[in-house]
Amino acid sequence: MEGTKKKSAAKKNTAARKKFINDEASIKQTEIAVEAASADKDTKLNNKKEIIKMRKIGILTGGGDCPGLNAVIRGVVEKCAEAGIEVFGFHNGWRGALTAKGHWLTLNEVDGIQTLGGTIIGSSRTNVLADSDGPQTIIEVLKALDLEGVVAIGGDDTLGVANKLRKLGINVIGVPKTIDNDLSCTDYTFGFETASNIAMEAIDRLQTTAKAHSRCIVVECMGRHTGWIALQAGLAANAHLVLIPEFPKTYDEIISLVRRRYLRGEHYTIIVVAEGFELLGSEEIDLGTDAFGNKLLIHKNLAKNLSDMIENTMRSDPLLGSDAQYFECRPVVLGHVQRGGAPCAFDRVLGTRLGIKAGELVVNCEYGNMVGQSGNQIVAADLDTAVTVRKEVDKEFYEAASLYFK
Ligand code: F6P
Repeated sequence: MEGTKKKSAAKKNTAARKKFINDEASIKQTEIAVEAASADKDTKLNNKKEIIKMRKIGILTGGGDCPGLNAVIRGVVEKCAEAGIEVFGFHNGWRGALTAKGHWLTLNEVDGIQTLGGTIIGSSRTNVLADSDGPQTIIEVLKALDLEGVVAIGGDDTLGVANKLRKLGINVIGVPKTIDNDLSCTDYTFGFETASNIAMEAIDRLQTTAKAHSRCIVVECMGRHTGWIALQAGLAANAHLVLIPEFPKTYDEIISLVRRRYLRGEHYTIIVVAEGFELLGSEEIDLGTDAFGNKLLIHKNLAKNLSDMIENTMRSDPLLGSDAQYFECRPVVLGHVQRGGAPCAFDRVLGTRLGIKAGELVVNCEYGNMVGQSGNQIVAADLDTAVTVRKEVDKEFYEAASLYFK
């Protein structure tokens, strides 16, 4: 009996997969505009629905891209295809969901894409909630496309929108992504490991050139409000000081480390600074904001300002000897390099597992959750907590790293 059941389920799955591949020609690359909700197209869609009787779900990637997004998309499409559920990929995050732009994803299209950086469906920082009609438009678009809900892959902004839509009764599933690693309810977000490795390799290289020129190099890492990337990469690459937003420092504390090193004959210093770091006692400057109200940290010129300050102080310090007048500092901003390129093995696998879990929740109609990593398990996690409680670097980790800042 059990065997017969399994056989018939396997047959069903194979048929569904074949159907995906065969239907490819008719459903792929169909950019559907909001006008698709017109009476004529509605009728066609309804007829099709009656004949096919397939469940359908939307998927989108929002916010800053990060390595591992494609692995998630593949996981969701694969798991849904197994149960005969079609997946519509909205283009460019919530922007595509507001304008009904996207295409039906096929198994062929997602085959092997876990090796690729970026996202095959594009991303944007569109905020559905910026317009009071936004949520209603999403409801209408989902209806027009006959989608039962959305899998939103994103960081706190994208998932914050998903959480709001959840509260309005829309079926959502969140998948946590960000190089910043600042989402709670998951041990890691994919993208973080790759970004940290990229930053670590860059710092390794900067070590040799800083030493050759007896310079201080200030390396700025991304991470927004948290210092996860800076600390992970800095500790791994033997930075002499790591500055992160969670543990602000005064300028005196920073310069005294560079001086101490200089006085004991170590004329070069690598300082890694997270973009969200603020000098204790410094004044807040207006940097402008993005669609979600996040400060545009790129305008802060943090590495450049720190670098100039250190160079000036070192050159004018009479106690450092006459050579100090030649002391040089250089700022290096790693920027979007940290988000680019192929994901490392960890992020490919984490993305895949999160995608499969999200697909499983769709199959079982268990909406309203986020998926996350807890220990070695991939679990359903609380979306509301994930977007309201930020995961910051803890004291124990920073203190352990500080053992080497001398
Ligand atoms: O959240 C990811 C992130 O890369 C942050 O670390 C950074 O502050 C921000 O995005 C940069 O955003 P954008 O790509 O819009 O410049």
